[in-house]
Amino acid sequence: MEKLKIAGGHPLKGTIKVDGAKNSAVALVPATILAESPVTIEGLPDISDIHMLKGLLEEIGGGVTFEDGEMNVDPSNMIAMPLPNGRVKKLRASYYLMGAMLGKFKKAVIGLPGGCHLGPRPIDQHIKGFEALGAEVTNEQGAIYLRAKELRGARIYLDVVSVGATINIMLAAVKAKGRTVIENAAKEPEIIDVATLLNNMGAKIKGAGTDVIRIEGVDKLNGCRHTIIPDRIEAGTFMILAAAAGEGVIIDNVIPLHVESLTAKLREMNVPIEIGDDKIYVGKAEKLQAVDIKTLVYPGFPTDLQQPFTSLLTKAEGSAIVTDTIYSARFKHVDELRRMNAHMKVEGRSAIVNGPVQLHGAKVKASDLRAGAALVIAGLMAEGITEVTGLEHIDRGYSQLVEKLSNIGADIWREELSQEELKQIKS
Ligand code: EPU
Repeated sequence: MEKLKIAGGHPLKGTIKVDGAKNSAVALVPATILAESPVTIEGLPDISDIHMLKGLLEEIGGGVTFEDGEMNVDPSNMIAMPLPNGRVKKLRASYYLMGAMLGKFKKAVIGLPGGCHLGPRPIDQHIKGFEALGAEVTNEQGAIYLRAKELRGARIYLDVVSVGATINIMLAAVKAKGRTVIENAAKEPEIIDVATLLNNMGAKIKGAGTDVIRIEGVDKLNGCRHTIIPDRIEAGTFMILAAAAGEGVIIDNVIPLHVESLTAKLREMNVPIEIGDDKIYVGKAEKLQAVDIKTLVYPGFPTDLQQPFTSLLTKAEGSAIVTDTIYSARFKHVDELRRMNAHMKVEGRSAIVNGPVQLHGAKVKASDLRAGAALVIAGLMAEGITEVTGLEHIDRGYSQLVEKLSNIGADIWREELSQEELKQIKS
């Protein structure tokens, strides 16, 4: 097991490249189950969540290769093998196997999903959607059983705007009989990406990216080739770290529209930003000004960038309130940042940050993926050495982070944990 070490204070300069979108990838890969012939997806990030999903497709009989970001899935020998335990419990996105397997086989047994601990993360809206399509859904000893004689199109109103439920219902409904309408659907770019893949496979989905999605069920889906969209959260993370510790950084392979809410907030803080077609230049900010943020569903400020942004705020002049309306408990990074001399506290669903302060290197632990990103950014800004453990979280969502940051001048490396540190982690 490894830890990350960062010697802070080195100015970052140059170009950093963004990979394919994790939260799209984790749905695109299960979506391949629905096809009758091979599907190729290009530009996938080399992260542990994708390796985990590859293993799950193989468990149900898929022929899968994954090299240089390109995955080829041959679904022709897949069967509705129950997946109650093992890998399925390790990642949140294993819930997409429910929609895809239900759509293809009209049955599935999937263990309750794992993933980052961000407070309660129910899947009631996914289940409401599957039931509306005609499936019987039961929870038996921690695994979800889905069974349907046939799936029939339905009108489904989501009580909560949910990315996962919107995609999962789409996955099941593309092969249902008749028309499905999802109302109050989530509008994230990842939903459009999944709909694009499914439509290229032969599905009939209209309205993805708006709050009403209409799907005409089809009998058969075929293989195709698809290129994934860039990761707006990885791009946003790089923009924030460029504002925090950069002296002119170009973020390459980004769709500027996807990060507009972050760009607006960084500009409000006095960060110079220039927008190109698929690149964003983040200049050195002379004096950062504190700004409040409130996370919202897309196109609002993304919850996934709330934690990294909190680190940047420690360098800004004044007091800022960071409110997360999506996840009530996404503040585990705050205590760790306080170890590094941040002046911040949590009150209800908000963190209050007072700055500016000079962060100091410390031994800190990533409790979840974006908390990990927040700590890396803090480490880049800090005086002295920061050691980050909990790398398994960071590896779930950021590919080649050490290489990418070293290329723009960061002093960052991985080191094996000592026996003593391993003992402490296990106790
Ligand atoms: N919700 C319900 N019931 C449901 C589903 C969701 O009450 O059936 C609630 C959730 O508890 C949350 C809100 O609705 O308060 C939004 O949840 P959503 O379903 O949109 O989130 P998700 O699909 O579980 C995805 C990303 C998250 C990202 C959120 C919000 C994946 C695998 N995960 O989660 O990504 O934070 O959307 O944009 O796509 C991350 O990348 O670090 C991450 C956690």
